[in-house]
Amino acid sequence: MAMIAFLPGDGVGPEVADAAKRVLEAAAKKFSLTLDFKDCFFGGAAIDACGDPFPSETKEACLGADAIFLGAIGGPKWDKAKRRPEAGLLEMRKALGVYANLRPVSVAGGMEHLSPLREARVKGVDMLIVRELTGGMYFGDRTEGDDRATDECLYTKEEVTRVARIAFEAARKRKGRVASVDKANVLATSRLWRNAVNELHAAEYKDVELSHMLVDAMAMKLIQAPAEYDVILTENLFGDILSDEASVLSGSIGLAPSASLGDGTRGLFEPIHGSAPDIAGQGKANPAGAIMSAAMLLRYSLNEGAAADAIEAAVSKALASGRGTGDIGGEDNTASFTDAVVELI
Ligand code: NAD
Ligand code: IPM
Ligand code: MN
Repeated sequence: MAMIAFLPGDGVGPEVADAAKRVLEAAAKKFSLTLDFKDCFFGGAAIDACGDPFPSETKEACLGADAIFLGAIGGPKWDKAKRRPEAGLLEMRKALGVYANLRPVSVAGGMEHLSPLREARVKGVDMLIVRELTGGMYFGDRTEGDDRATDECLYTKEEVTRVARIAFEAARKRKGRVASVDKANVLATSRLWRNAVNELHAAEYKDVELSHMLVDAMAMKLIQAPAEYDVILTENLFGDILSDEASVLSGSIGLAPSASLGDGTRGLFEPIHGSAPDIAGQGKANPAGAIMSAAMLLRYSLNEGAAADAIEAAVSKALASGRGTGDIGGEDNTASFTDAVVELI
């Protein structure tokens, strides 16, 4: 029996989380898995319920779980909160020790038309962004005054090495290439980053082809020649930005899943998008990213690769048959697309 801490969150979070749960239940039935979901307050919903975005009961449930599933958190309602929903998310990532955030983006053959870019340009796109998740500017000291504010960006060599290892290992199972992205022409943390990546590469991963790119050039290359990239390794803030950009290659941010992993098997799984306040409550949210995050949960935390494959195949088949929500030009709402995926499992 696997325990899943289940955190629907805010805005479209509960809508896409419900879709993911229905699909996980369908996969559990088909593959005879016993999944025990423990629903928890998190984010704005938790602020409303108990004044804290990451209450201690939720923290205990997460630390005791085999995996954590999150919809999305945040929204204008909590912009002025003493501790914002986003602060709870950062605290959770740190508490779980999930320093590597895997964000795959691919365009399946025949699905190029979903992209806003020309079909020839996105043909063959299949990349994995490995984003460092528990360091950098997100976690440095801050000072905040009316006339002056600072955000410290701090990285240690050990923090860079451990996430780089994840990227090199992933590359060995893929096309064997890592592009490490930094701003080493300006930032000290980026020079440390580049040196640490080079050192690990030279010591243990010479079979992997390593290149370095500056982040501004990478933002351009992701649109100009996205199919050139295999694994993209980068620090926390750059990875946040580049992954939203890359998600659009496949058609919509609503299609993009993620897995956040540390040294053990327990992971945090969430679509890369946010609470999408502009479409919340309307049944418009694309649940595919959340559903594929659930597949990653089965693969990485529960070691149920066959069930994960079945979910991914069902989503691909549904999309290939023209099913999909409005963000990718389809006629479905969140629930009807989920019905189609459940049916295919
Ligand atoms: P967002 O990702 O919520 O939305 C950006 C745009 O993408 C919007 O136009 C939205 O409608 C669209 N979109 C997002 N998800 C979609 C889906 N599943 N289907 C179709 N369209 C979708 O980003 P934002 O508006 O900048 O942020 C809103 C809130 O979400 C903020 O409070 C932010 O901090 C938070 N946020 C949370 C997470 C998370 O929980 N992991 C991630 C990103 C942003
Ligand atoms: C994401 C989000 C978060 C981040 C926010 C909500 C803290 O944008 O998961 O990509 O910046 O990491
Ligand atoms: Mn983001």
